Amino acid sequence: MNIGIIVYSKTGNTFEVASRLKGNLEQKGHSVVLDRVTIEGDVKPGDKDVRMLNIPGIEDFDKVIFGSPVQAFSLAVPMEAYLNNHITSLEGKEVSLFVTKQLPFSWTGGKRTLGQMEKICKNKGAKVKGKEVVFWYGKVREESISKCIKNLSNQF
Ligand SMILES: Cc1cc2nc3c(=O)[nH]c(=O)nc-3n(C[C@H](O)[C@H](O)[C@H](O)COP(=O)(O)O)c2cc1C
Repeated sequence: MNIGIIVYSKTGNTFEVASRLKGNLEQKGHSVVLDRVTIEGDVKPGDKDVRMLNIPGIEDFDKVIFGSPVQAFSLAVPMEAYLNNHITSLEGKEVSLFVTKQLPFSWTGGKRTLGQMEKICKNKGAKVKGKEVVFWYGKVREESISKCIKNLSNQF
């Protein structure tokens, strides 16, 4: 199966999880492309002006996994701009989602951010399968990365 993992990652955490997920899916025999949404300069939560540098395409993939950090209890602005403005259709595609965040509670933005991603993807026709939150905080980090990878890999 051709799987695309598309992430925005400001400080590398989300990209690290995505890289490990890619390795896991490849071990299972899938063909996986990991691509990164990148922007010019920096944006803060709430900014509207996002200039995209790399806009990953999704047409070649049977399934897509989107990943983003939580920023200010919400979906990071570059990922929101990418999903809203640069994906024309997800009609009939199976999509899974994950977010990384610092604080080890879903109510500090995890559920809300997954909800934002799910809503955009569903509005574009996707069937949303897995949804995972990775907590970057201390001892729970490794456990939550492993859980995310296991659960998302099992979707395919
Ligand atoms: C501007 C900003 C806002 C953040 N807001 C939150 C937040 O609301 N809740 C939370 O748990 N972590 C928050 N974090 C922490 C990041 O979500 C966390 O470090 C994440 O793993 C970073 O992913 P990245 O390295 O892929 O950018 C925030 C980080 C930044 C830079």
